[in-house]
Amino acid sequence: MKTEHPQTIRLADYQEPAFLVDSVDLVFDLEPTSTRVVCAAIYRANGDQDTLVLDGENLTLLSIALDGRTLDDSEYTVSGDTLTLTNLPDMFELVVETEIDPKGNTHLSGLYQSSGNYCTQCEAQGFRRITYFQDRPDVMTRYTVTIIADKDACPVMLSNGNLVEQSEEEDGKHLCVWEDPFPKPSYLFALVAGDLACVEDTFTTKSGKNVDLRIFVEHGNEDRCDWAMESLKASMKWDEDRFDLEYDLDLYNIVAVSDFNMGAMENKSLNVFNTKYVLAKSDTATDQDYAGVEAVIAHEYFHNWTGNRVTCRDWFQLSLKEGLTVFRDQEFSSDMRSRPTERISNVKILRAAQFPEDGGPLAHPVRPDSYIAIDNFYTATVYNKGSEVIRMMHTLLGEENFQKGMKLYFERHDGEAVTCDDFASAMMDASGIDLNQFKLWYSQAGTPEVTADWSYEREAKQFSLTLSQHLAPTPGQAGKEVMHMPIAIGLVGQDGKDLHSEVLSLKEAKQTFIFEGIAEEPVLSLNRGFSAPIRLKAPYTQDQLAFLMANDSDEFARWEAAQTYATDLLLSMIATLQKEKTITQDSRFIEALKTTLNDPALDPDYIALSLQLPTEGYLAEQMDVVDVDAIHQAREILRLFIARDLKDDLLAKFRDLRSDSPYSPDAKSAGERALKNICLAYLGELNDPAFLALITAQYHNANNMTDRMAALSILANTDVPVRAEVLENFYTRFKDDPLVVDKWLSVQAMSCLPKTLKTVKKLMKHEAFSIKNPNKVRSLIGVFCHANQLHYHAVDGNGYIFHADRILELDKINPQIAARMIAPLGKWRRFDKARQKLMKEQLKRIIATEGLSNDAYEMATKSLGK
Ligand code: TRP
Ligand code: ZN
Repeated sequence: MKTEHPQTIRLADYQEPAFLVDSVDLVFDLEPTSTRVVCAAIYRANGDQDTLVLDGENLTLLSIALDGRTLDDSEYTVSGDTLTLTNLPDMFELVVETEIDPKGNTHLSGLYQSSGNYCTQCEAQGFRRITYFQDRPDVMTRYTVTIIADKDACPVMLSNGNLVEQSEEEDGKHLCVWEDPFPKPSYLFALVAGDLACVEDTFTTKSGKNVDLRIFVEHGNEDRCDWAMESLKASMKWDEDRFDLEYDLDLYNIVAVSDFNMGAMENKSLNVFNTKYVLAKSDTATDQDYAGVEAVIAHEYFHNWTGNRVTCRDWFQLSLKEGLTVFRDQEFSSDMRSRPTERISNVKILRAAQFPEDGGPLAHPVRPDSYIAIDNFYTATVYNKGSEVIRMMHTLLGEENFQKGMKLYFERHDGEAVTCDDFASAMMDASGIDLNQFKLWYSQAGTPEVTADWSYEREAKQFSLTLSQHLAPTPGQAGKEVMHMPIAIGLVGQDGKDLHSEVLSLKEAKQTFIFEGIAEEPVLSLNRGFSAPIRLKAPYTQDQLAFLMANDSDEFARWEAAQTYATDLLLSMIATLQKEKTITQDSRFIEALKTTLNDPALDPDYIALSLQLPTEGYLAEQMDVVDVDAIHQAREILRLFIARDLKDDLLAKFRDLRSDSPYSPDAKSAGERALKNICLAYLGELNDPAFLALITAQYHNANNMTDRMAALSILANTDVPVRAEVLENFYTRFKDDPLVVDKWLSVQAMSCLPKTLKTVKKLMKHEAFSIKNPNKVRSLIGVFCHANQLHYHAVDGNGYIFHADRILELDKINPQIAARMIAPLGKWRRFDKARQKLMKEQLKRIIATEGLSNDAYEMATKSLGK
């Protein structure tokens, strides 16, 4: 048991920093286990305080000097993770010399090694693991960085900004100096040194400035950088065109590393990326990987303005940069690809990751008001719901006013560290639109539930719609206020055309909207484009859903109607299974799918999305008490019904879309592959030797990873002899390719076949696995515990025990990763009594463990609840 409870940090306690920093001069003498860091900073009082508290974690302090005089031990206090100096003058220079151990740093926060190369990760609080500093985003300053390292081990040495000096040193070392002209918070500092290959290109900005673009990767990966480079140039161009934002330095560096806690990091002019979001070539990366690279490259690039030029005052404001930047990367992907399918994909992610968070023990507002470990708040709520909040402002203001708001935001705050309120004020002042009630989206946690009711009066040609909203209590927020939400609607006439469409502003607990002059009884299309991130309860009949599936002009709403239909159907099948009755087939739903499948007016990627049934996780979300077996079974039965009834259509579509042309990652080709492969997956349900041969042939003959992986996934879920054969073939073929090995681990961890947990345990001992590598952990343990609902929740409780064992093992190595894995145990309230007990036991075991990290303590105690 933790003897001392970790401290809770509160937004309400925010205070300005005691001192500001005029400049920082850092010198790194890089050695694997004993790197020396000298940090010389000019401090200036920011008020009348004369005490300075510096953050520092895992540092060996070698010396400290104030205005040139070395201090003795009695002149400062080091306790816990702080160093305190008192009786300070208004302005002084402080030189702190520390020693750190990059090679032994398994937290992957601060300065560490990945494949023998040095790199840093400072967001959110990693800079304090490099030197003593006020490690908080509202302390912005100019950095000059000197790097000294062995010439052979580190031919490449990088930091933020511009290279201003280079020289040879003694003992086979060399030195370089980087200067960043833009003041920045410590979390955006970066340093990279090692033996890396480089791929180069250039971009000319709209004002005619030439920017050198460089991507650094491990030797041998140079042929996998083209897509990332294309995506970077496209992002730079798009930000000029859509947001009128231009890049501000002559150099933009990206470094790809194999060991990384998250996706990527936007350090000023020196992004550090997880290899997963840089490297892509057709025989190793899937279409989804290509889309991921494009989106993350864009995301980090867009941070240069939304995050770096204007940053966060404190970490409670994290969504100021993340929500806004996710919104921007989603808009980029929508403009580059298909807007409706992009929207559908993002809503699926929101529902799969954010809604459960908002409805469970870890619920927190987009702008949280307290935390123990800030790393635990890089969540779907801050990122994805945060983006929805920006999207709603965009809907309420319109593109033109929204862009005026952005302009005003930069005019007011360029070079500053600000709050979500500052952003909202810029939007309000630029547009004249009142967002005061709307701002509750920042402070109130939970997903609002909106109930709709409507009626039509033929005589009066009047359609009336009543919407009522409800927001359930969440931890720490018992009472909730009424929210302002934009609800886009359409009144669809019998010919499929809109009789009326509008964005309604729902601002009251219960509000009725009357539409006059509606000549015929319309079908209501509600929350088009998912204009508000809510749960909707609407009394649709199957007739109306089928009508909307076929006719709604809003493609999102069409897809949504299909999802609602499928969900209702599956839930009733689940109920039937629970009563041990036989299931009868709903041919009407399958007929509607057939119409969609064969509609020549629809894009293949859209059809593919429509053919996907709601996931097991989504169905679980809709049940009061989750029944993982019935969910799995019902879904399998419906898949089989669809496969049987539509066999000929699916096969025809599959054949039609099969192509021998060389691979291209563009959205259209990717959509065709997605549809082709979903057809193949349905055919795989039939257990027909001919189709099995077709799948196996696709596995062997594929000219790209998307098709090969699609075939492998089907086989991994099918109990046939060829399964083991192709899995082995895949490993032999790709064993030297870590990102592809990750896929091999995931596809096995996802399998619905029996003994999957046993396989996962065996794979942990395989040469391919390493618990120190976050990608490996996510691919094997993460996928099993988060995505394999059926086996993770096995009633014997072995999934939970395995999970807790791994969390405890990981917590000693990398607390951020350990803590991020805990959430599935927090779903215990949703299960039957037996599982509840088993899950809670594991949470209690975690909490009772000696030496547990703050990160894991926070997630485990909150998951267990009171
Ligand atoms: N700012 C990064 C992004 O969203 C997130 C990030 C990268 C991060 N690495 C991290 C957050 C490590 C916490 C810890 O683009
Ligand atoms: Zn980000």
